[in-house]
Amino acid sequence: MIRTPVCDLLGIDLPIFLGGMGSIYSPPLVAAVSNAGGLGAMGCHSLTAEQVHAGTAAIRQQTDKPFALNFLIFDLVEESFAAALALKPAVMAFAWPRPEQDIKSCIGRAHAAGCKVTFMAGGVQEAKRAALCGADVIIAQGTEGGGHVGWQASMALVPMVVDAVAPIPVLAAGGIADGRGLAAALALGADGVLLGTRFLASDESPLHVNFKQAIVESDGHDTLLSEIPDIAAGKVWPGAMSRSRRNRFIERWAGREWALRQRQAEALAQIRAAREIGDADEAPLSMGQDAGLIHDIAPAGEIVRRIAAEAERILRERLPHMLQPETGATAARRAS
Ligand SMILES: Cc1cc2nc3c(=O)[nH]c(=O)nc-3n(C[C@H](O)[C@H](O)[C@H](O)COP(=O)(O)O)c2cc1C
Repeated sequence: MIRTPVCDLLGIDLPIFLGGMGSIYSPPLVAAVSNAGGLGAMGCHSLTAEQVHAGTAAIRQQTDKPFALNFLIFDLVEESFAAALALKPAVMAFAWPRPEQDIKSCIGRAHAAGCKVTFMAGGVQEAKRAALCGADVIIAQGTEGGGHVGWQASMALVPMVVDAVAPIPVLAAGGIADGRGLAAALALGADGVLLGTRFLASDESPLHVNFKQAIVESDGHDTLLSEIPDIAAGKVWPGAMSRSRRNRFIERWAGREWALRQRQAEALAQIRAAREIGDADEAPLSMGQDAGLIHDIAPAGEIVRRIAAEAERILRERLPHMLQPETGATAARRAS
């Protein structure tokens, strides 16, 4: 079994995290990931205090394992955050502050409530800032990921963040959907992985099956980083665009964002209708380039177990064979 220091820190069995996804409300998904030994997370971005209570109660009915409540700092609603703190989740997961915001007080309040704190960053400076403000775990999120992401790819970002915040544990996010991704993340110095897109195509995901199927059918080349989903939703995100499937809706507005701003209310109504009927071409679908690695819709617990088993096989069987037996001279050189 793969076990890293972050497992001991958070009281979990496997270093596989569900990304908090504010647009994806599913207590069964959160519970399934935690029950499989990973860390589930509920995105509380758009939840009222009552909904935070109800969601957390639903998760606790389905698991007694640790899970996280996730908040976007730039859009933090005090009543919802206060409700979450009072519920004392094992982990509070933060992301996306504005540069001028006081993240130390958010982290301090979470610690005072007895939570461990994870902080997601798309760049080294933001990771360092969170580390200095007391975050217990840093998530280095690469641009391959689904939803709002930064500009740098995981392969370069993860080891840079590992170096910058050592000895704080780092998880890799963005573009990871299988055990190969977990094994690679460990090789880059991370302590584990956090996944979003892979869990969108799970049985417990609340997406319409046509949207899940669009992820399964993707070859991973059909994503676009754009402001289109935010403009359509009437949101302004601090310093990020959003990676989503390059479908008919996105192609209609790409390069014509000014026109979308003008017709935002109409577009939003169309998106809501398309989501309702499962028209995956006429509503934004946040997904990462790793959609090309996702070939089925599966139970979330099984996804966690598969990733862990595949990574373990790689570490035990594939990689050791790549090393030549050590001679006395190479062992001496390594020891010196
Ligand atoms: C639909 C969707 C919604 C997301 N919402 C949030 C959110 O509310 N809070 C957050 O911290 N991250 C959010 N993310 C980002 C994920 O936490 C994670 O960093 C990302 O999905 C990792 O890349 P992957 O999709 O390639 O696994 C979202 C991602 C997706 C796909």
